[in-house]
Amino acid sequence: MSKFYLTTPLYYVNASPHIGHCYTNIGADTLARFKRLKGDEVFFLTGTDEYGEKIYKIAHQNKESIKFFVDRASEKFKNLWKILNISYDFFIRTTDEFHQQVVKKVVSILFEKQDIYKAKYEGFYCIFCEAFWSKAQIKETEGSCPDCKRKVEEIKEENYFFKLSRYQDWLKRHLKNNPGFVKPKIRYNEVLGFLENNTLNDLCICRPKKRVSWGIDFPFDSDYVIYVWFDALLNYISGAGFFYCEEKFKKWWPADIQFIGKDILRQHAVIWPIMLRALDLEPPRVIFAHGWWKVGEEKMSKSKGNIVDPYNLIKEFSLDTIRYFLLREVPFGLDGNFSYSALINRANSDLANDLGNLLYRSLNMAEKYFLGKVNPLKKDIPEEFLPLIEELKESYVKNMDNVEFHTCLERIWRFINVMNKFVEEKKPWVMWREKRIDELEWFIYSLLEGIRIVGVYLYPFIPNAVNSIFTQLGVKVNEQLSIKKSEWQREAFCVKKEKPLFPRFNVS
Ligand code: MSP
Repeated sequence: MSKFYLTTPLYYVNASPHIGHCYTNIGADTLARFKRLKGDEVFFLTGTDEYGEKIYKIAHQNKESIKFFVDRASEKFKNLWKILNISYDFFIRTTDEFHQQVVKKVVSILFEKQDIYKAKYEGFYCIFCEAFWSKAQIKETEGSCPDCKRKVEEIKEENYFFKLSRYQDWLKRHLKNNPGFVKPKIRYNEVLGFLENNTLNDLCICRPKKRVSWGIDFPFDSDYVIYVWFDALLNYISGAGFFYCEEKFKKWWPADIQFIGKDILRQHAVIWPIMLRALDLEPPRVIFAHGWWKVGEEKMSKSKGNIVDPYNLIKEFSLDTIRYFLLREVPFGLDGNFSYSALINRANSDLANDLGNLLYRSLNMAEKYFLGKVNPLKKDIPEEFLPLIEELKESYVKNMDNVEFHTCLERIWRFINVMNKFVEEKKPWVMWREKRIDELEWFIYSLLEGIRIVGVYLYPFIPNAVNSIFTQLGVKVNEQLSIKKSEWQREAFCVKKEKPLFPRFNVS
């Protein structure tokens, strides 16, 4: 049994979760379910990022104690993951006591190694992004933050720095020797290009308490708290037991894949591996940066008022429709444009028509002609099915391992559509009329078995719908959850049709 450790970013608790946040976790959940299907032992970590001035200010504005605010906000994410059927193994909060201890320990180790040092800093600071900028960097934006465009503050202070620059050559070498370290390729090139064309500045890892009070205390200087990003990145090792549970840590580290959005690539593909290197720990095997969901070509944001609310969407369309749409519509590494018409189109054509209808009409025939009991007989797999089954056997695991969700779905649908065509061409009602009963039973059995196989492959994507498929087919759900079950079997079905799997929506 292999182990598989996967992580998602920790979500900031200052804003309500939107469909963009859901995307990362739905992708991660799909991969985790697939790995379990394959027989791997999986550790899936997600959680919330709770420190920083931004969060403190919002709690203050709401006239709430910060503890009350972060507890409630982090609970919101937990609830959302429940609604989205996210099968995480551990939910970490950066305010967890054990995480704070790990962060302090790391700072002490790096300080002792002289990878952390104190120095004077002069420059510009964006309170909102908690980021430092040089004069040159803000020149183009005429004194505003290059990221959020808010006004920056000029500051002069003493602070603690982490020696990123010391490890730049190592990171370049690591990238060159491991072309799969950052995926997809476009992001790999972006990171390598950045490292080749820039000299890394050391990273300021503290904020003076007079400016930012909500953070983990710096271990040996009580005037400072630790910078949120430095603290938050460490969740990936603290969540796996680093420092307090060596056995657990040895089992899980390095992470096999870390999912992030493309906007936080630098932190994960530059700062993070360097932090690990400085700690003499292995880098993660893969950093995978997915694209952005936009609305009408614009980034989703509260200020633009174009946030797509996951709760409303699920109520309107069902969870599996959303999960399917997000992973089918665009390749995981690219940007997508969210639109209701595209969603309705997928829901009606792929889910209600192709899959839902195939199941419904197959069960209908099984009940009508055989009272729900369908035997395998001694006939071969229909020749129309063979190439599709072979293709899926060849490609599914490979594509899933490469996080090519949309390709997998596209191939599964090729098989679904061949089955639909099979129904139309074979004309079962004629077989019935002409009393070709054996042939009819073989025909219906083939459809049910084909649908069962499709169910195994689809389980990581749309687990609720697949549960219903298996139940209607009369097979035990738990017994199907293994990739080995994608083989053609010869076991009788005893089916029971329920209401259609997916509803149809009006195109307005
Ligand atoms: N707290 C940091 C991450 C720290 S990880 C140690 C953070 N949080 S976030 O809440 O702003 O974003 C979390 C994730 O949501 C990021 O991967 C981000 O890319 C993703 N998304 C936020 N909006 C998104 C879209 N509109 N579309 C797709 N994903 C986007 O960054």
